[in-house]
Amino acid sequence: MTKPKIAILGTGYVGLVAAAVFAERGFDVLASSQDKEKVDSINRGKAPFYEKDLDAIVESTVRAGRLKAVLGRREAVLQSDIFFIAVGTPSLMSGEADLRLVKETAAAIGEALREKKTYCLVVARSTIVPGTTRNVILPLLEKHSGKKAGEDFGLCMSPEFLRQGAAVHDTRNPDSVVIGQLDARSGDFLESFCRQVYAGQDVPILRMNLESAEMVKYGRNTFLAMNISFINELARIAETIPGIDIYEVVKGIGADWRINPAFLNAGCGYGGSCFPKDVKALISFARLRSVQPQLLETVEEVNEQQAIHVVAIAKQELGGSLKGKRVALLGLAFKPGTDDMREAPSIKVANHLYAQEADIVAYDPKAIPNARNRFIRDTIKISYANSVEECLTGADCCILLTEWDEFKKLTPDIFNRCMKRSVIVDGRRIWDESFRKKVASYRGIGLGSNNAYASEHTVLFKLGDQLIQAGLITPEQLQKALEEQSRSGGLIGANLIKLGFLTEQALLDFLGRQYGISRTN
Ligand code: UDX
Repeated sequence: MTKPKIAILGTGYVGLVAAAVFAERGFDVLASSQDKEKVDSINRGKAPFYEKDLDAIVESTVRAGRLKAVLGRREAVLQSDIFFIAVGTPSLMSGEADLRLVKETAAAIGEALREKKTYCLVVARSTIVPGTTRNVILPLLEKHSGKKAGEDFGLCMSPEFLRQGAAVHDTRNPDSVVIGQLDARSGDFLESFCRQVYAGQDVPILRMNLESAEMVKYGRNTFLAMNISFINELARIAETIPGIDIYEVVKGIGADWRINPAFLNAGCGYGGSCFPKDVKALISFARLRSVQPQLLETVEEVNEQQAIHVVAIAKQELGGSLKGKRVALLGLAFKPGTDDMREAPSIKVANHLYAQEADIVAYDPKAIPNARNRFIRDTIKISYANSVEECLTGADCCILLTEWDEFKKLTPDIFNRCMKRSVIVDGRRIWDESFRKKVASYRGIGLGSNNAYASEHTVLFKLGDQLIQAGLITPEQLQKALEEQSRSGGLIGANLIKLGFLTEQALLDFLGRQYGISRTN
């Protein structure tokens, strides 16, 4: 069987990792980018971003002459047999995925296809909502090539499922390959390539139509996001019952053969370039089809609250105010093994701390340069430490946000020695009981505590219903305030006051009576 030549259009996480792994498996691969710096970096054998194990295979495959980066798309397509569209699909303000790069790439492939004499295959690998390959990519390919899909060239959609920080491992060892095909010939071509890549490995290949393959990607990611929000909600309940530990509970839950406990780690919420974006995109896709995505909306809402919850715990541990308190953040990246800050819970946490006038200091082994960029944009004042020790020195409280190995190895001594008082909020539950006993105060997500209380945010989340129950407002007034909230934002209490349905004093009295909260934020 002859080996097809491969072009990967897009050199982000998805594109470059696939390019390097296919090259490692003996294929000639051209990685096409529009960015000269990226092209030069790859051709020098260096990945343009940090990803575990990637530099090593980029270096070895470039040196072996099997991986080469090229500027622009034409050359890559002209010299190859299979072209993967692996460009980014970031979120638009509406939540929909931005298809600009996908369209540009499809048009450019089409132009180059015009000159191709032999049958070749286009594979969409970017995350795109169902119908995009058939209704957006296919017409562009046909229009710009003057050729017919399914006859002159093949078309498939094959989503990737790689995790950042484990992207090389996941691409080398997929649990399955999903092939959405326009027709059998397209699918056969891609399946034959995949069987060569994964020769000797037991990788099931699932074939389906284009739309189903597109949906599989959203289905997997939103299911996992739902798991995380589910366990975070369960953790919130567990926290109010002293002695309970959600991590023990998950062992019990996961012992049921129908439940996989792998993505049931309670923490400060999910972030990254996929889960938040994909949940948003599916919500907006559903709404466009007049389906109300109630569950997905709640998944997102619970996730938003989870980061705020960590701040609420810290605030409570510091006596109800964060003003002027030095809060040390350990970890900024959305997860360990990456310098990526996209949608990281640390962004929401820092925003909330800053709004409450905390003095924020942060340390992350990899993500500080990206964090600097991100927080300059958000105009939040954070100081960055060069080490854990520097970060903890003089802190009133430490919030752990990313479970880097470096942090797991820390002993209580460093916290007791450096901090004003070792008050710790463990947002990823990395420290065990013996550690917990040796610090001044320890609170962890999903760990029942005598101090646990309904955090301000939980209160405010259901505030409207509670005010109705207390007879302070009517359901109609709540409805009007909710409409005002969707028009102009703001918290529900503030909108009730703005519309004259409630006085500020009445709201404060209610919160004070009910929860001991003296001021809303
Ligand atoms: C994810 C999917 O796992 C991958 O299949 C898809 O292709 C891209 O999106 P990634 O974003 O790299 O990968 O990271 P992942 O390891 O899935 O974690 C995403 C977020 O969820 C992180 O912020 C992580 O901390 C959080 N998470 C994950 C939890 O809070 N609890 C869990 O149990 C698992």
